[in-house]
Amino acid sequence: MKKKYIAAFGCLVGLLSCEKATVEPINPSAISYNKNVQPIIEAHCIECHLMGSESAELFDYDHVAATVVSGQLEGCLNGDTNFVQMPTDHVLDDSSKNIIYLWINQGFQDN
Ligand code: HEC
Repeated sequence: MKKKYIAAFGCLVGLLSCEKATVEPINPSAISYNKNVQPIIEAHCIECHLMGSESAELFDYDHVAATVVSGQLEGCLNGDTNFVQMPTDHVLDDSSKNIIYLWINQGFQDN
């Protein structure tokens, strides 16, 4: 009887946690700009990089892709010499950085 109760409770917790999961699942072999990269930019960069920003505009795919081509995006995320480490106000977690690097390595597609 007790075991059944525990099993039922486990199922319920499972269901609830599934419902709460709103973050898109990440498929490391097919990173999507819209599903995986854009939310990171939105959460960590856009406050300082809106349209009209003097530093870099990161408000849409075309502008973000331009910073990949110029090498600025990787340079800033790495904190390479001659680049200012980004973001300037907090540390970006490694998993978010890795998602962006994977996307760049997969040809930074508009997908
Ligand atoms: C708190 C504000 C702030 C946040 C958040 C921020 N940036 Fe910046 N960013 C700046 C400023 C200020 C500069 C200009 C730095 C300079 O040239 O001295 C800059 C410059 C840049 C540049 C241009 C670098 C160059 O070589 O000219 C890129 C690309 C960039 N940021 C990307 C990002 C990315 C990607 C994120 C998020 C992961 C981010 N930034 C988050 C303030 C911010």
